[in-house]
Amino acid sequence: MVRKKIIAANWKMNCDLAQANQLLDAFANAELVLNEHKVAVFAVPFPYLILAKDKLAGKKGLCVAAQNMHGKKSGAYTGETSVDMLSSIGISHVIIGHSERREYFQESNQFLADKTKLAIAEGLVPIFCCGEPLEVREANAQNEYVAKQLEESLYGLSYIDFLHVVIAYEPIWAIGTGKTATSEQAQEMHAFIRSSIAHKYGKEVADKISILYGGSVKAANAKELFAMLDVDGGLVGGASLNATEFIQIINA
Ligand code: PGA
Repeated sequence: MVRKKIIAANWKMNCDLAQANQLLDAFANAELVLNEHKVAVFAVPFPYLILAKDKLAGKKGLCVAAQNMHGKKSGAYTGETSVDMLSSIGISHVIIGHSERREYFQESNQFLADKTKLAIAEGLVPIFCCGEPLEVREANAQNEYVAKQLEESLYGLSYIDFLHVVIAYEPIWAIGTGKTATSEQAQEMHAFIRSSIAHKYGKEVADKISILYGGSVKAANAKELFAMLDVDGGLVGGASLNATEFIQIINA
């Protein structure tokens, strides 16, 4: 079966307007090898979402994502952004549960379960992040750790809803550190995640879910990582801020 390949850029809290314009123009004009089975997703900061949409929309295989959303539909949540706002401006994807949100904004597995459910209900594709910190990896307890994240945030979803989920495995020790997981380590965890999904929802569903790897992906390692059987693309932070580098990653 053909699983969708997704190469996602996560700009995090970077770029002023001039830099955002420059980067988006570079991607809008680049020769990207994309089709219905392989898309590039740009998770830009909120102030640039409409800009990104205007510049990239309509180009084959290019999508725009938010980096976060709130878990409630609307209301008195000063400073927050709702899923309806995102869908009303044509955003198709949203990152949920990035480790930086879990760490700095105390987002719990339960809170992330609510967000994921709401995103799907409103027609957005959640890119759900999971992954273990260094001490868990050193104790060789990464499978249990990630299984708990999936269990508590995703496995309350119906089988139909779960089919909309994209998962990004991002070992925290590899994010922004330059220390990438080896392609074998990535494959091992991705296969574990897929087997966990198969156990919960059946093999047919598990085979359809795209599982991205994130953590110091760059042009130099993308090809090897993306060639692994269960690695269906990447979620790229630092290297997505360099147009030449990210274009190489997309085309890897
Ligand atoms: P990195 O970040 O590519 O800079 O390691 C990845 C991420 O946090 O999504």
